[in-house]
Amino acid sequence: MVFLTAILILFSIFAVVKIYLKLTTGRCRSHTCLVGKTAIITGSNTGIGYETALDFAKRGARVILACRNKSKAEEARSKIISETGNDNIVVKIVDLASFDSVRAFAKEINETENRLDILVNNAGVIGIGDDTSRDGLSLVIQINHFSGFLLTNLLVNLLKKSAPSRVINVSSLAAEGAKNLDLDQIAKHTSVMTDYYNSKLCNILFTQELAKKLEGSGVTAYSLHPGVVKTEIVNNTSGLLKIGFSFLMKFFSKTVEEGAQTTIHCSVAKGIEECNGEHFSDCKRVKAYKTARNPGLAKKLWEKSEQIVHLQPNETQL
Ligand SMILES: NC(=O)c1ccc[n+]([C@@H]2O[C@H](COP(=O)([O-])OP(=O)(O)OC[C@H]3O[C@@H](n4cnc5c(N)ncnc54)[C@H](OP(=O)(O)O)[C@@H]3O)[C@@H](O)[C@H]2O)c1
Repeated sequence: MVFLTAILILFSIFAVVKIYLKLTTGRCRSHTCLVGKTAIITGSNTGIGYETALDFAKRGARVILACRNKSKAEEARSKIISETGNDNIVVKIVDLASFDSVRAFAKEINETENRLDILVNNAGVIGIGDDTSRDGLSLVIQINHFSGFLLTNLLVNLLKKSAPSRVINVSSLAAEGAKNLDLDQIAKHTSVMTDYYNSKLCNILFTQELAKKLEGSGVTAYSLHPGVVKTEIVNNTSGLLKIGFSFLMKFFSKTVEEGAQTTIHCSVAKGIEECNGEHFSDCKRVKAYKTARNPGLAKKLWEKSEQIVHLQPNETQL
């Protein structure tokens, strides 16, 4: 009897949380048409990035799938074309674990594209441990922050020429966990979760500083938390972490279609320009997390990031 009651209570808690999540999931209500517009989405062969690309394709955009794996990206491209009938979907290869690859990708875009209306820095990883990139950095921080920073700088001229245009940085509530961001140690592996927390806080701080630098240019920037979303992101984790994440994703997650809504909202919703540099969740502007309300930290991160990616004066207009 006690066992049955416990099961019933647990089941009720699950049901209430599930219903709460469904009711509070934000949806992008904008009907903005993207015909004649070009969007780049990193990591768009799967997960939130794929759903974002699918939505932009439905709106008529030219969509550039910026992915590291050609066959996965081509598969995604075929699916998007067959589902939307929009064949203006292009695959371009970029490995965010390499600054050379980011520079080569940006060079090609700058040489071949006339415009860039939306840049979504979406690609992200968690749990690839203490692997170091060929640039000598912790892979997680390089993929999740430094490469997006570099890519945005390299493409900002094209974004400015296409204004009004937008930069969207997909962050996470996990940024709240980055209690002691140490910029001197930022490039080094600490622990699986700390690397991820730090990288997601960097996404928000980068957005804040970028927005300041872009003021008056017609280009605006937003960061966001997509929610807990059932994707492949936990595939690289192991042990208890994997069990915990898998549990969360099985019972308390959004679908990928729901998880892409805030990215889509920040990319296409009209009238959010006044929120330049702000953070969004469930398609609403939210107060920056405590860790992201640190005067001066965003500027310091920007300067550190310039050093780490070896940004040259002729590479950016920021
Ligand atoms: N899912 C969640 O609950 C959640 C919650 C908060 C925030 N987020 C954020 O949402 C974003 C998207 O994540 P997701 O959940 O959609 O994960 P996902 O399904 O694992 O997708 C991640 C994408 O990033 C790509 N990627 C990884 N490393 C790359 C590299 N070196 N170069 C280029 N692309 C690379 C992956 O490519 P491959 O397929 O080739 O690996 C994949 O396309 C991430 O920034 C994540 O931090 C997710």
